[in-house]
Amino acid sequence: MTTIEQLAARLGRLPRVPLAHLPTPVEKMERLTAHLGGPTLWIKRDDCTGLGLGGNKVRKLEFLLADALMQRADTVVTGGVVQSNHIRQTAAAAAKLGLECHLAVMTGRVPDIDPDYGETGNILLDRLFGAHCVFVDWKSNRNAVIAALIEGLKSRGKRPYMVAYGGSSALGACGFVAAAMELVQQLDDGDLRITHIVHASGSAGTQAGLAVGLAATAPEIELIGIDVDAEPERVRADVERLARQTADMLGVAAPAPVTVLPGYAGSGYGVPTEAMVDAVRLGARLEGLVLDPVYSGKGFAGLIDLVRRDRFKPEDNVLFWHTGGAPGLFAYRSFF
Ligand SMILES: Cc1ncc(COP(=O)(O)O)c(C=O)c1O
Repeated sequence: MTTIEQLAARLGRLPRVPLAHLPTPVEKMERLTAHLGGPTLWIKRDDCTGLGLGGNKVRKLEFLLADALMQRADTVVTGGVVQSNHIRQTAAAAAKLGLECHLAVMTGRVPDIDPDYGETGNILLDRLFGAHCVFVDWKSNRNAVIAALIEGLKSRGKRPYMVAYGGSSALGACGFVAAAMELVQQLDDGDLRITHIVHASGSAGTQAGLAVGLAATAPEIELIGIDVDAEPERVRADVERLARQTADMLGVAAPAPVTVLPGYAGSGYGVPTEAMVDAVRLGARLEGLVLDPVYSGKGFAGLIDLVRRDRFKPEDNVLFWHTGGAPGLFAYRSFF
C-alpha cells in the first residue's frame, strides 16, 4: 500500500497555488446524531474553504490554476450553469491571482425555479468578481461556444487556460486526493475512526479524488457518493474513469469500483425535492449549517435517509463531506 508520505511526495511534485483555508474543520454533529438516533455523525466543513464564499472547487483550483500560471496563462475560461458554484469559485480564484476570467454561463438546464434564479446567488458573485459572462443556451453546442471564446481571446493576444467543467480533470481531482490525506491526518491526530463518508457527487472530480486518496491511505473507509444529476450510472462511470486517470497520473493503484447512490436527485439536476428542503431545514435548525438546494442539500437528504433505513450500524462513525454551495440557496428562496 502507498503510504501517506509517498502519496504526499507524489502530490508535492505537482505545482499548487494556495487558495483555500486548510485544513477544513471536522466536527461532530451532536444534535443531528441525537435526533436521528443512529450512528455518530460527523461533518467535514469544505463549505469553509474560504475563497469567494468557499466550497469544494477551491481545492481543485489550487492545482488547476497553478498549472495555468506555469503555462504563463493570463486568462481563465470555464463553463457552467447560472448557479454554478464551480464558475463562481473559478471567478474568485482568477480575481485573486490577477487572471482575466471568461465564463460560458449556461441557461435553460434548470427549469424556471424562482424569480431570483437568474440574478442572485452565484451569478451575482461571478459579476462581483469581475468575470466576463457569455450566456449560452444549454441545448446549443456548448463546447463549440467555448472553443470560439478561446479562439477569440487568442486572436486578441490573450493566453487563455481552459478549466474543465466542474474542475473535474485528473489534475483537478488531485485536490481531493490531497483532501483525503488531510482527513486521514486529522483522524490520526484526533484518534478518530470514521467508517463511512457520504457526499454529493456530480461532475466526478470530488469522488474520484477521494476514492484514489482513500484507496492509498485508508481503504477501510467506505465512500458513498450521492447522485445529484439524476444520472447515477453516468456519474458512476465518470468517477471510475477519472479515478483511473488520477491514479495513473500519481502512479498509485486505481481504486475498487465506486458507489454512487440513486434516488435523491428528484426529477433532474437543480430541481428541488421535498427531502432536500427538509434536509436543508434540519441541518440549519439542528447544526446551524447552510446547505444548498442543488448539491449538499440533496447529499444531506441522502445521508438522513440512509441513517433512517439502517444502512449503518449504531457503532459506526459516518462523516458527511459538506461540499459547500451556500450562495445557491438565495436563488431558491421561494422554497424556504
Ligand atoms: C456544492 C457542490 N457540491 C458538490 C459538487 C459535486 O462535486 P463534483 O462536481 O466534483 O462531483 C459540486 C459541483 O459543482 C458543488 O458545487
